Amino acid sequence: MRILRNLILPVVGLALVGCNTDMWVQPKHHPLDESEMFADGQASRPLLQGTIARGHLREDGAFYTGIQNGKWVDAIPVPVTMDLLKRGQDRYNIYCTPCHGQLGDGKGMIAQRGFQLKRPVGNYHTKRLREMPVGHFYDVITNGYGAMYSYASRIEPQDRWAVVAYIKALQLSQQGTVNDLNDSQKAELDKPAKNEAAHEGGSH
Ligand code: HEC
Repeated sequence: MRILRNLILPVVGLALVGCNTDMWVQPKHHPLDESEMFADGQASRPLLQGTIARGHLREDGAFYTGIQNGKWVDAIPVPVTMDLLKRGQDRYNIYCTPCHGQLGDGKGMIAQRGFQLKRPVGNYHTKRLREMPVGHFYDVITNGYGAMYSYASRIEPQDRWAVVAYIKALQLSQQGTVNDLNDSQKAELDKPAKNEAAHEGGSH
């Protein structure tokens, strides 16, 4: 009996309160619905000019554009650490090597195998590009350059700086001389090369 009462009471209660369909047939528009009210026929109104999505305010111009006071910045605006360089190497090898090559000399596989353009793929080791401010490289990744398209949709701003840092390392790598080494590094050069494979147990 108690079970019956426990069941009946809520049901009767609900019936008394009544079910009203007003709640689910409200006169309202869903996003991107049609509407006869506005001239453009859309219920969703266009964003006001200058609207910025929450969390997307980009106040730090140098970081997001590579440009400050109308000029390309000279210094990478994030700390250049080994982690940043490794991240840059990783992104560079994914996105840039097909054309620019692992050395950045413009001899990537695509460039070597029939990539025909009016202008060849950029070589980072020209005097002009060695002297170019870092902001330019960031700008090229963000907006593209001549025949090269933009990588903004694939590489986040922080990663763009990582790639720029790695390009600077690539440039340096082609300019190094023995005099860049300290004494103990120079001494290493005179030692016979180590055979790394011999230490791995030879399981081939
Ligand atoms: C599909 C091939 C291709 C890929 C991939 C590519 N580039 Fe390029 N890049 C080019 C070409 C072509 C040029 C020369 C464009 C021109 O001179 O019109 C160029 C030029 C450049 C230059 C030289 C700009 C100058 O001032 O002369 C830089 C720097 C550069 N690319 C950076 C990058 C970076 C960084 C990436 C990876 C995020 C990348 N590129 C990926 C094709 C490519």
